Amino acid sequence: MTNNSPIGVYDSGLGGLTVWREVRRALPRESLVYLGDGKNCPYGSRPKEEIVRLADEAVGRLVAEGCKMVVVACNTATAAAIDFLRAKYAPMPIVGMEPAVKPACLATRSGVVGVIATERSLDGDLFRRTASRYGEGIRVITAPGRGFVELVEQNRESSREAVDTVHRVVDRMIAEGVDQIVLGCTHYPFLMGALREVVDGRGITVIDPSPAVARRVAQLLDEFGLAADGGHRPDYTFLTFADEEYRLRLERKAFMSL
Ligand code: DGL
Repeated sequence: MTNNSPIGVYDSGLGGLTVWREVRRALPRESLVYLGDGKNCPYGSRPKEEIVRLADEAVGRLVAEGCKMVVVACNTATAAAIDFLRAKYAPMPIVGMEPAVKPACLATRSGVVGVIATERSLDGDLFRRTASRYGEGIRVITAPGRGFVELVEQNRESSREAVDTVHRVVDRMIAEGVDQIVLGCTHYPFLMGALREVVDGRGITVIDPSPAVARRVAQLLDEFGLAADGGHRPDYTFLTFADEEYRLRLERKAFMSL
């Protein structure tokens, strides 16, 4: 392992590419290995123990690929497994996803913040802790993004059906007076077009936490003295536990979404 070794980025499927593209933008010298499980996606309603096992297998694979750091670009896997992963793979730095409840609570004027995430993430301690730490005096309402992950995995995020699916989840939040909506699942920023259409003209901000995660990665590279050399030419690798066709989809979507 050297400073020019890659950073691993892992998700249940395609969603973590929303984090991958921000990391690539913020750190253009870093090589990246993206692992999109694909075989077991969606994780969202699986039991915690199963997600821990899947995340362990994925991070183990990224370590075997020589990664110097891993980004768990999946809120569901972070909520279920981050403590386990950090203990098992110490001292390698592991960055997880945190629901962006803090910036939403700081920015709200209506005093009502909405969070959309998978069922498993919303159940988790991580979400409960974050919401109670920053949400004092603010009403934090939550909803699982039913159908969102499937739309993205099937490349249907720009369809009419996507807008209808977003309406079903977000209309209730609008009726409750939210002015901030936090995307608590890395698949959801792919639905930004549909989300913007649904909230259009209502003064609602939709928060994608991935730029903040990329800043955290940059900070940790400095702290651990792990940044790639000045002249390093990065390469980008895509891995999956599904088949070659899925792997190619990951690769195409990564570069398409720039
Ligand atoms: N992209 C993931 C997340 O951030 C998980 C989606 C899923 O597999 O259900 O939560």
